[in-house]
Amino acid sequence: MRQQVALGDVNGHVEEMYAGHLIVKSYNGEADSIERFEKYNADLYESGWKSQFLSGLMMPLMQFVGNLGYVVVCVVGAALAMDGQIEFGVIVAFMMYIRLFTQPLSQFAQAFQNLQRCAAAAERVFGFLEEPEMADESGKPALLGAEGRPVRGDVEFSHVQFGYEPDKPIIHDFSASVAAGQKVAIVGPTGAGKTTMVNLLMRFYEISGGSISIDGVDTKSVPRWNVHDQFSMVLQDTWVFRGTVRENIAYAKPGVTDEEIEAACRAVGLDHFVRSLPQGYDTVLDDKSSLSAGQKQLLTIARAMVQDAPILILDEATSSVDTRTEELIQKAMDALTVGRTSFVIAHRLSTIRDADMILVMNHGDVIERGTHDELLAEGGFYADLYNSQFSLAD
Ligand SMILES: Nc1ncnc2c1ncn2[C@@H]1O[C@H](COP(=O)(O)OP(=O)(O)OP(=O)(O)O)[C@@H](O)[C@H]1O
Ligand SMILES: [Mg+2]
Repeated sequence: MRQQVALGDVNGHVEEMYAGHLIVKSYNGEADSIERFEKYNADLYESGWKSQFLSGLMMPLMQFVGNLGYVVVCVVGAALAMDGQIEFGVIVAFMMYIRLFTQPLSQFAQAFQNLQRCAAAAERVFGFLEEPEMADESGKPALLGAEGRPVRGDVEFSHVQFGYEPDKPIIHDFSASVAAGQKVAIVGPTGAGKTTMVNLLMRFYEISGGSISIDGVDTKSVPRWNVHDQFSMVLQDTWVFRGTVRENIAYAKPGVTDEEIEAACRAVGLDHFVRSLPQGYDTVLDDKSSLSAGQKQLLTIARAMVQDAPILILDEATSSVDTRTEELIQKAMDALTVGRTSFVIAHRLSTIRDADMILVMNHGDVIERGTHDELLAEGGFYADLYNSQFSLAD
């Protein structure tokens, strides 16, 4: 068991250091990292040789016990035979017995040793299997978008309560009603719970109170995949997988034509760059891909455009692109979001000025709501936030 734990530590450490390689280098953390590796590795070495030694000992030990029996039978048998108490044949018979007896025993010992090794490894598997299951949803009907009726995109949050840990509520009482086609902006300081609201809307987590409904259908009453189907999403952290540009953009959507992909790239201003790549749209991207952070964002936005779902979520989708490109995307987005409900989370408030509704969040609650002009006139938290961003420019 200790060997398994030590192996996990070593692998975990190596993976972590490899992923954060640049940071380790730039903070000169190598010495510290090597020291920790040495420690984990020494643990692994120690527990490794002990477990190997013990399990290696098992077979010879069993053989030794078997052979010892042999010797005892021979010596005692010889003495008894000389006394005339038993005949020679009895000794031979007992030698056979000993062999028959110890053979299955040593086999058993070997099997036991394998079993133990398995048990140590299986502990982790069982730990994983023991995690609570998600509730079975196979019986729920897929009501959203059923019978060819497209989802309009009315979204209703009603007294939503939630905390990642049951005793630490983050969203206390969130209510909002969004009409189909509206652009809703969620703003607020870091850690206010904006991403959390999006996670709840997508049903990545189950809310602990209240309800969220789409077109009047409680999202709890339909299967999760049915909810996910209604959303295109651009997340705060971009994700590009190993595959061509084309595959990355058409991700998980069947039957996307090349024209659609290229149109989406043109809309976000990525087309020119992609064409300049050696293989154009067939260039393979990987985890250390040849894209900058902003270009990755553009790619994920193009992906969301191609998905073409009724509700759009943009969580800090343009935080890594320059302001001019952002404006470009903004225009493309506006065209895209016509007739589509969209939730936009943005720290740069200039991008959400034209939203139909702005929800200002702080500490998990909506503290102000309204349009840009209303909120500015109110002179509250939003106005402060806005002015602090633009006081320099004015
Ligand atoms: N997976 C998680 N488990 C536990 N707590 C979490 C988790 N994700 C976020 N939190 C906590 O929930 C709170 C809200 O986080 P959230 O990600 O919603 O903030 P945010 O408004 O999106 O902030 P930002 O502007 O930095 O993206 C934070 O205080 C954070 O510590
Ligand atoms: Mg966030």
